[in-house]
Amino acid sequence: MNRMVTVPAGTTVLSAIREAGIQFEAICGGKGTCGKCRVIKISGKTSEEGSCCAKFLTLDEQRKGYCLACLVQVWSDAVFTIPIESRIDTPQILLDIAQTIQTISPSVHKYLVEKNLNYSLVTLGPSIRFAGYDGKRPVMNENQRDLIINSAHPLTATLYKKTEESLLIALEEHDTTERLFGIALDLGTTTVVGLLVDLLTGEIIKKASTLNRQITLGEELVTRIAIGRKEEGRKELQIAALGSVNEIIHKLTHGSGIKWNEIYDICLGGNTIMTWLLAGKDPTPLEYVDAQVESNPVLLNAETIGIDALPLTPIFCLPAVSRFVGGDAIGDILTSSMHKKTEISLLIDLGTNGEIILGNKDWMVSTSCASGPAFEGAGMRSGMRAMKGAIDTVKIDKSGQVIWHVIGDTDPKGVCGSGIIDAAAAMAHAGILDISGKLIESAPGVREGEHGLEFLLVPSHLTATGKDIVITSEDMAYLMDSKAAVLAAIIVLIKKYRLTPLDIHHVYLAGAFSSFGNIENLISFGILPEFPSAEFHRIGNGSLAGAYACLISSSLRKEATDIAKRMGYLDLLVDNDFIEEYWGALRIPEKDELFLIP
Ligand code: FES
Repeated sequence: MNRMVTVPAGTTVLSAIREAGIQFEAICGGKGTCGKCRVIKISGKTSEEGSCCAKFLTLDEQRKGYCLACLVQVWSDAVFTIPIESRIDTPQILLDIAQTIQTISPSVHKYLVEKNLNYSLVTLGPSIRFAGYDGKRPVMNENQRDLIINSAHPLTATLYKKTEESLLIALEEHDTTERLFGIALDLGTTTVVGLLVDLLTGEIIKKASTLNRQITLGEELVTRIAIGRKEEGRKELQIAALGSVNEIIHKLTHGSGIKWNEIYDICLGGNTIMTWLLAGKDPTPLEYVDAQVESNPVLLNAETIGIDALPLTPIFCLPAVSRFVGGDAIGDILTSSMHKKTEISLLIDLGTNGEIILGNKDWMVSTSCASGPAFEGAGMRSGMRAMKGAIDTVKIDKSGQVIWHVIGDTDPKGVCGSGIIDAAAAMAHAGILDISGKLIESAPGVREGEHGLEFLLVPSHLTATGKDIVITSEDMAYLMDSKAAVLAAIIVLIKKYRLTPLDIHHVYLAGAFSSFGNIENLISFGILPEFPSAEFHRIGNGSLAGAYACLISSSLRKEATDIAKRMGYLDLLVDNDFIEEYWGALRIPEKDELFLIP
């Protein structure tokens, strides 16, 4: 589809693409460091791209007009094509709800209004009652009171139980007590997923997903914090997140027979930075190790931030523990129920940021690690998100032939996180990598590329882009660094609590990490230590499942807050043991040496 956009001369191509509202890869947010914002210049006068482009593009690509959108300015009418690898499609999203439905006890309820227009000494005016409601008098404003008194029709009131008091959040003509709906949301750094839920039955009516529009401003959390330091940038990020949330609401309500103004409650799971940005809070304090993060949930309403629901629809954001362990991790815990078990569990959620939680019903401690976006396919030469066209499984057979599977059963465009780990584990097993994760020059399939050694995964004639899909030496260095950070974080956490892997009885894999096909590969490549006594569980999108649980159960909201309040947090950035373990984890374990913790 062609798009035309008018921008002042000197604008970067990336800004023009954003202006046109096109979803586009710009992982580093336009700093010229990720090399993913590729476009092909067809015509027009532009600035010189400089050496940064050369670093990420082959000579052949440069000859064909490839350049990086964030480094090139347009100085006349110009035409560009966005190549297939820079387009963002709807990603593959895990919508499994691992949580079994609890007793349904939402935080909003509907009641028929009963009024007695005779003067009452108790209320010093007409008395208003809500049939079947036996709590404290709900808080209502003057307009609501006048509407009740003056309405000629029967009325239905929606009350929201907010801690001790109840608020009147909606008044509707006629009896609408049979229609009560809410939305559970996972506001992820990359994707936003939502569920439309019948709050009377807990039934999930519809699911929807979209990309977080903040991506085009910068994919990494640190980039977004940097943008959010200034009020203008903060507003831009908030509008982008709200745009995605409202898109989800429209997708969910469209064609469902439910209107946007029938959404009476919203629960949201998101990391601390996403939640703060949605609320319009300055994220600057989150840059610092000693950042103070409240363990109470962030409570908003639709009108104050601009969400398309009834003005007073409450938005409950799952509470956070620290700057890097947010409401999404609390959702994971609720979903796993590890906080109720006597046995010790370990929960690992690896995405752009990695969260690791250890504990049982008596104690819990969390940490986070900068796993980097490698596990999501970003920052790698042929890496991509887990979406249609991504290789998600790789094997190398005895004859050295590479066997792969592509999401959507189409020609491959690139390789996503699970495919990269599968490939690395298979390459190590086939003797293509040495113990430090370096490509072995003489191994089959390894060749000299423009940027050093590379392993050919899929030749160009079999790919959708017409380019080879490769794993380069730089990719392997990046992957080794990411995997060492995760392994070291797990080891430090376990050791600090004087435990060994034998003490861990449950390992929960959450988020994108839970879809990784082969747990053996996670262990043999040295991302996870061996856990001889543990049962592995994949909990899918725990953030979404946790938001759903809090939507249909007010007691689980309290449980979420209790978990956040009692959870400890270990900051590895200031931990010497972590550095030591990290260096030790920068290698692939040998066959009989998987058990990495003494
Ligand atoms: Fe252009 Fe990263 S190099 S957005």
